[in-house]
Parts: sequence; C-alpha cells; structure tokens
Amino acid sequence: MKYYVTTPIYYATAKPHLGSLYSTVLADITARWHVMQGFKTFFLTGTDEHGQKIANAAAKVNLTPKQLLDQSVPAYKHIWQLFEINYSKFIRTTDDYHKEAVQKWLLKLFNEDQIYKSKYEGWYCTPCETFVKDAPKSAENVLCGSCQRETIFVEEDAYFFRLSNYQDKLLNFYKANPDFILPNERYAEVIKFVESGLKDLCISRATVTWGIPFPVDDKQTVYVWADALSNYITAIGYLDPSKTKDFNYWWPADLQIMGKDIVRFHAVYWVAFLMALDLPLPKSLLVHGWIKVGEEKMSKSLGNVVDPEVLYQTYGAEQVRYYLAAHIAINHDSEFSISSLENCINSDLVNGIGNLLNRAIVLATNNNCSNLKIKKLDGNILELKKEFDAILSELIEYWQKYQIHLVVASIKKLIDTANRFFHQAEPWKVAKVDKDKFIDILAATFNTLKVVAHLLWPIMPSKMNELLSVIGVELYQGEKLFDTLKNWEHTFVITKSAPLFEKIIIKPVEEKSMKENAPEKVEMQDLIDITDFTKIKIVVGSILECDNVDKSDKLVIMKADCGEFGVRQILSGVRPFIQPSDLIGKQALFVVNLKPRKVMGFESQGMMLSAAFTDGDKRTLNRLVLLDQIKNGSLVG
Ligand code: ME8
Repeated sequence: MKYYVTTPIYYATAKPHLGSLYSTVLADITARWHVMQGFKTFFLTGTDEHGQKIANAAAKVNLTPKQLLDQSVPAYKHIWQLFEINYSKFIRTTDDYHKEAVQKWLLKLFNEDQIYKSKYEGWYCTPCETFVKDAPKSAENVLCGSCQRETIFVEEDAYFFRLSNYQDKLLNFYKANPDFILPNERYAEVIKFVESGLKDLCISRATVTWGIPFPVDDKQTVYVWADALSNYITAIGYLDPSKTKDFNYWWPADLQIMGKDIVRFHAVYWVAFLMALDLPLPKSLLVHGWIKVGEEKMSKSLGNVVDPEVLYQTYGAEQVRYYLAAHIAINHDSEFSISSLENCINSDLVNGIGNLLNRAIVLATNNNCSNLKIKKLDGNILELKKEFDAILSELIEYWQKYQIHLVVASIKKLIDTANRFFHQAEPWKVAKVDKDKFIDILAATFNTLKVVAHLLWPIMPSKMNELLSVIGVELYQGEKLFDTLKNWEHTFVITKSAPLFEKIIIKPVEEKSMKENAPEKVEMQDLIDITDFTKIKIVVGSILECDNVDKSDKLVIMKADCGEFGVRQILSGVRPFIQPSDLIGKQALFVVNLKPRKVMGFESQGMMLSAAFTDGDKRTLNRLVLLDQIKNGSLVG
C-alpha cells in the first residue's frame, strides 16, 4: 500500500506565510494519516525557482536570482522544520536532475510533433506567470483575470504544445472521474474553462532568460509552468534510467494539494501534459480556498501576510497546525484572526482534550489507581463506545473526501461526548462507594483519550505522543488501525504529568472604549412572563456546513449539530452580513422548537439567533458568540 502526496512548489521570492504553511500542513496531515494506516508514504514539497517573477523579485532587491534563492529556500526549510513538516523530498526546480528531465520530456513531445514553433502575441501576467485574455495590442490597461493586476504585451517567437487536441479527452476524463477534483464544487469552473475552447499552449519564452534552456532552441527558455508542474514526476525519477523502478512505484500521485488560484494549471495543463506523455493521471486534486485577512486574500503582494514563525513562538507549532486544520474550511475561504486562534486553543485544546486528560489523571492518581482496564463493558460505558464507533464511521467518510475541517469537527464531537460521559458518570463520587465501577469509568475515559489521540496524531504528533505516553499506550500504526481503536480492552498505566496545553490569557478589550460605546438606555414595554420565555427552547449548536442559497441574496443554508436535538437544517438571512465560510466550525444559539417551515424550497428546522443593530443607514447583524466552547444541545435560559 503506497501513498504519494504533493504540495504546490512555492515561488521562492520571500519567506513562506500562513497560506503556504496551510497547504503544506494539509499535505503533512494526509501523509501522516496514511502512515497511521500502514501505507508506505512519499510526501513531496519544494520551491519554484525559475521565470520572470523570480528574476524581477531579485532585481528589485539588487540580487541575482541565485542570491535571492540562497536566502529564501533555507527560510522555507526552516519554517517546515519548526512546524514538524515531515516531507520525504524537497525539490528545487534549479536542481540538475529536474532540468535534464524537463528537457527530455519536451524533446520527446517535439519529436512526436506534439510541440511546434510559431509566434506568440498577447498579454502576459508576470505575477501569475500566465498568458491572459485575447485583447488586441492596442488595448489599454489589460488586467489579469486571476489577480487583477496589469499585464504586459508580449510578441515573440515561441513553441506551442497542441493543447487543443486534448479538449474532448479532458472532458471525457472529468466526466468519468467525478472525484478527481475535490471538493466537487470546483469541478464546474474547470469544465466551463475547457468547454469554452482550448487553444494551443505557449510553452517557451524568448525574452525570459532565467529558466531551463528549451531543448531544441537555445534562444528559448522553457515556460515556467511547464517546468514547475513537471516537478511532481521528476522528483521521483521520471526519465532517469536509474530510477525507473522508483518512478513506477510512486506514480501516479494519490493526492495533489493546491489553492484554488492554480487549479486550472493542474486540472487542465498538467493533465494534458501527462496524457501526451502517456502517463497515468493523479488520483485526486484537493483544491482549498483562501486564508483571508479581513476581506482580502492573504498574499505577499498585498503585504498582509502573517509570519508563521511569530505564531510558532507565541502559540506553539502544533496549536497552529490544529487551528489551521480545524478552523480553515477546505471548501471555502476562511478568515484568520488572532482572537479566533486564541479561542480555538483555549476551547478545543485546553478546555476540551487537556481538561479531560487532567481530570482523569488526577482522579486516578489520587485514588492510587495507576493500572486500569475495563472489567464490565455495559450500561453507560457500552453506550459511550457505541457513540464513539458511530462518530468514527462518520469521520472516515469525511477523510475519504479530505474534508479535513469536518474530520476535526468529528474529533471535537468525540471529545464533547467523552467529557459529557465523564461529567455524568461522576467518578469522584463513585470512587467512595464502588471501586470497580470507578475503575471502569476511568478506563472508559482513557479509552476515549486513546482513540482521540490516534485520530489527532496526524495533526499534533508530538502532543499526542505525549498524551499516549502518560496513559501508557504505544501509538499504533498499521493496517488494523480501526480495529485497534474499536478495541477497549487496553490496560492503561497512568503517570502524573504537566498539562498538555497552556491556557492563553486573552487580553480584555479596554474598559474605556467599551464605556464610550455604551448604548443609551432603552425603555422596555410589553414585558413577558417567565412562563412565556420558558416556552422557547434555545440551545447551543455547532455549524457543520453552510452555503449561500442560490437565487437569494439574503439567505444561507446551514447544518447545525444541536446535540441531543439532532443535526438541524437551518436557513438564516445573514448573507449580507457574513460569509458562509466564517460560520463553519463556529457555535451559535438556535431556537429548536419553532415549527419547521419551507423557505425557497428548503425546510428550515429552527432559527439561528443573531444580534442586530442599526447605525445611521447601516444595519449590522451578528451571530451571537459564545466565549467558551459549550456542549452542543445545552439549553440556554
Ligand atoms: O502559485 N490561503 O506558487 P505560490 C491559502 N509556484 N493558501 C494560500 C494562500 C492563502 N492566502 N496564499 C498562497 C505558485 N497559498 C506556483 C505553484 S505548482 C507546480 C507551482 C498557497 O508561492 C496555495 O496552495 O504563489 C497556493 O496555491 C500556493 O500557496 C501558491 O503558492
């Protein structure tokens, strides 16, 4: 069983930022998840080092491209090391073996007449390194469709790849492989692009010198995307006679991860190159959304990047890895903020898993029980195990489509369930009256922690190793992972330990500013009786999914886990005020005993509460936020 996963190779113009870290952490998590299941795994990352963009960035700081790369490539490796990125290989497109292999495959296609010489005339976006739009030379201010920056007009001899021959083949392939692009929503834009007609692709540049020399023409340089995309095969030995066996073992890739900006390059050009070379195609592309700061994408050119090293020093590598996996939704753009990071660490890690571990360990050691095993798997312990097994099945389904934020939501559910069990079983009272029962309750709790630690290991490997070692469990990695997690017969050997996660002290908002904004007193009329109020059932719920409702400019549709009140489908008119992606993974308050009603063809099974205020002409609506993570289904009142 093998698993090959890749990240994009990053433009080595500067240090990595939180966006590049996100793609790389996702790849690391998927690689480790497969290691856990006994797969032999290869994880490739690296840097994209050629092209005009790199040459310009170097010139801007009075360096040669080589000098710039000598500074930035070590910065990438340094950050990856801090964040425990366990890559198998780091490819640099300036590596000799890569350059040779690129020249070989281009020559092969040239000899087969799949590449021919002609002239390129058109607009070029250097920041995206891409040919754009069919605007005439006389046009003014032609902007790049992708980054909206100005383009330059290019008129030069060039070599072309016969991409137009692949239009039908590509469309047939997409149709036959609906899970090729994940999440599936991204498929439509790729199909639309291909259906709109494919022109042959220019794959060399005459006016760019920083790159791989084109094999049959020393006046030309290989187009940087043809060079960069090839890294996924050259890194594992493509066209290197001494590495044929390795190449055939690892290729095709099982997963290629990228941001939504570069899906077209991978789903269209890359696939067509592979078809032309008669190579098998990657099994899936995982295309994720942006990390945003406020309304804007986090990017080097916008100057709003967050330095991962600062986050590492302030919060720790694994806390940040967890936040990225839990808080940044795969299928939407998501906003980064320090407060959401701090709340996530406190609620999920300190109060969620850390607190459960501490309480169980303190009880065990205070009662001199350092060896524990379940004697009777029945009653509430059997119920707990059944709930765990069911959530585990749901989690495996999310993993199959790499919905990693939902995988983490399922793990959170496991932790909530375990905390609820512990709280309701009251082992601190049982200890005084029934020692056997007490041991069963604690051993069940340690079983839940064993499951959770294995499932979180791909995200927080060191912390979870630490957790497992204080409860006397060796990390299991192998084909029988799920059998192991469903087996609750382990004997736990408990050691006293320091807390796993440190609570973040969240700075209070300044009192002064709160006072300045204090509203005037509003006279209350139409008072209601307490019995009227108690008729309304308001509970805490977690938003699992959320999307805009087509044809409505007000509504979003969401699925909210309301604990014992079930997963509710709820429509809410907050679209003008908040992005669906900003709601996923958050908790809110829901009315759960409203009569269901149909809105725009969808049944709404409750109502999300929000706070509304009007300032001048502007009306703002906010989801009611909870300071702490509260168990879903908790009644408010
Ligand atoms: O495009 N949010 O390199 P690049 C999430 N060299 N992910 C982000 C992000 C953000 N705000 N910003 C960047 C290139 N990324 C080419 C790739 S591959 C053969 C060549 C991530 O340095 C995301 O994965 O601009 C995006 O696709 C990648 O960084 C772009 O990195």
